[in-house]
Amino acid sequence: MLHDTISNALNEQIGLEGQSSHTYLTMAVWAETQGFDGVAEFLYAHSEEERQHMLKLMRFVNERGGVAQVPTVQAGATDYVGLKEVFESILAHETKVTECINNVVDLCLQAKDYTTHNFMQWYVSEQIEEEALARKILDKLALAGDDHGAMYLFDRDIVTFGAADQA
Ligand code: FEO
Repeated sequence: MLHDTISNALNEQIGLEGQSSHTYLTMAVWAETQGFDGVAEFLYAHSEEERQHMLKLMRFVNERGGVAQVPTVQAGATDYVGLKEVFESILAHETKVTECINNVVDLCLQAKDYTTHNFMQWYVSEQIEEEALARKILDKLALAGDDHGAMYLFDRDIVTFGAADQA
């Protein structure tokens, strides 16, 4: 049975993952309507990944005797100056998600809930990859600069950037 403190923290994390999925979705729509088809593909796929992160938490809460709360998500920004702003927002968002996950892990230790602590290690590892990927993309964008040819290649290749990390 989950301690109330842990159950509440996990439900907050469910809300954050749901918000993440929604945020990536609004970014995908922006990218697709700006002609960045590769970036849109990457963001649609990432939105789906975030939904899976949310569902994994929901199933865990229910299995452990809690009740997962289906989150209400807010509309995020729908307009961006450019790709740099999109990926800077993603890095800032993922850094915040990492902090929240670390807080849940900390609460698990305080409550001596080693089962949830063990479960959360998957999220700890996932956040290392997500932050690294956002930084890698920002580095590549900086390299491309204002070169239209380089941006074309960036848009074409972005779906492969995380492939090595996820293999
Ligand atoms: Fe599920 Fe990007 O954090």
